[in-house]
Amino acid sequence: MRSQPRKPLRADQIIFDQLFQPYPLGEFELPNRLVMAPLTRMRADADGVMGELNAEYYAQRATAGLIIAEGSFPHSSGKSFPGQPGIETAEQIAGWRLVTDAVHGAGGRIFLQLMHGGRIGHELIAPGGERPVAPSAVRPQGDARIAGEKIPFDEPRALELEEIAELQQQFAQGAQNALEAGFDGVELHGANGYLLHQFLSDVTNLRSDQYGGDAANRCRFVVETAQLVAERIGAERVGIRLSPNQNVNDISENDAQTLYPQLLGELNAVGLCYLHMMETPPDAGWSSVGVAREAWNSTLIVNSNFQVDWPLELADEIVAEGRADLICYGRRFISNPDLVERIRSGEPIVEADFQTFYGGGAEGYTDYPALAEAADGK
Ligand SMILES: Cc1cc2nc3c(=O)[nH]c(=O)nc-3n(C[C@H](O)[C@H](O)[C@H](O)COP(=O)(O)O)c2cc1C
Repeated sequence: MRSQPRKPLRADQIIFDQLFQPYPLGEFELPNRLVMAPLTRMRADADGVMGELNAEYYAQRATAGLIIAEGSFPHSSGKSFPGQPGIETAEQIAGWRLVTDAVHGAGGRIFLQLMHGGRIGHELIAPGGERPVAPSAVRPQGDARIAGEKIPFDEPRALELEEIAELQQQFAQGAQNALEAGFDGVELHGANGYLLHQFLSDVTNLRSDQYGGDAANRCRFVVETAQLVAERIGAERVGIRLSPNQNVNDISENDAQTLYPQLLGELNAVGLCYLHMMETPPDAGWSSVGVAREAWNSTLIVNSNFQVDWPLELADEIVAEGRADLICYGRRFISNPDLVERIRSGEPIVEADFQTFYGGGAEGYTDYPALAEAADGK
């Protein structure tokens, strides 16, 4: 296929050629190397159901090589935020169908991030009023945000052994529901201090059964869940996101540098279609992206982290040098629905307004203009 002729560039504009190489991901041919990060925007209705506004938002961003839709709970006990969508009920599946149809109609590809919040939640948020569950009863520092108020997190209830198998089945069912909703695949949220990450961490997982203790036992929940989900919908439709030593949501890890290579080895055997690795923060003293390239067998998507912003030049270099296959951006996709076209044509990238990140309506969500609209003064 012939590529589009480029607009003439100013001397100071750089051509990010590597980011526009197509890439085969499972059965999909991604037209570029740019992935839209999972971004919780808290704009589902009170029942966790998405609607037309959400469909418009995602369709606006369909030129991304791949969209990973925001963390969504496979079971109501895993809801972490008001306005977070679910993928559990028939209404939630139907709401997401509006989104996937709109994205596919606009020529895009979209996975859903399956996220169980574990101890990051509150009984005032969970639809059934459930107390948050976690590997162990270790209370997180910090607050849940409910109706504009900060309410300190409670101590979670430690999961009973029998409940663990149930939870894993909920992930498998959530994945099946995601396909029913028209998603092209799912990403397991093993990052940022939520349930899967809580199992991996020696600080939040104090269990003495086969799911706690040494690194192999702490990896077990994640590996088994990945296996079950892959068996249910096909490993070629399942990816996983990890964030070693990323200290958000009060998570910390003492043995990440040895645990993660072990985890990647076990996950390789499951045959997942990608690993989505967040880079370790500067003070971690090691590079999770470097380790992932060495240890991981299939597609590697990388993202910086909350502390460090990766300039586009670096993204291009990472792909050019083969340090990763695909680059994931979050905040730039919030404020630039046509980020891909802006990079391609060397147009300015708009800064995101963090005040409208979470909750609300169209403002700061669907009203960031694309280039043509900006030129028309819309
Ligand atoms: C508003 C907002 C919501 C986010 N929601 C999620 C989420 O649902 N799941 C997830 O794994 N990461 C989430 N993240 C993290 C992003 O996916 C990404 O890792 C982070 O923003 C760093 O990338 P960036 O510098 O390109 O924005 C969120 C970040 C922001 C700013």
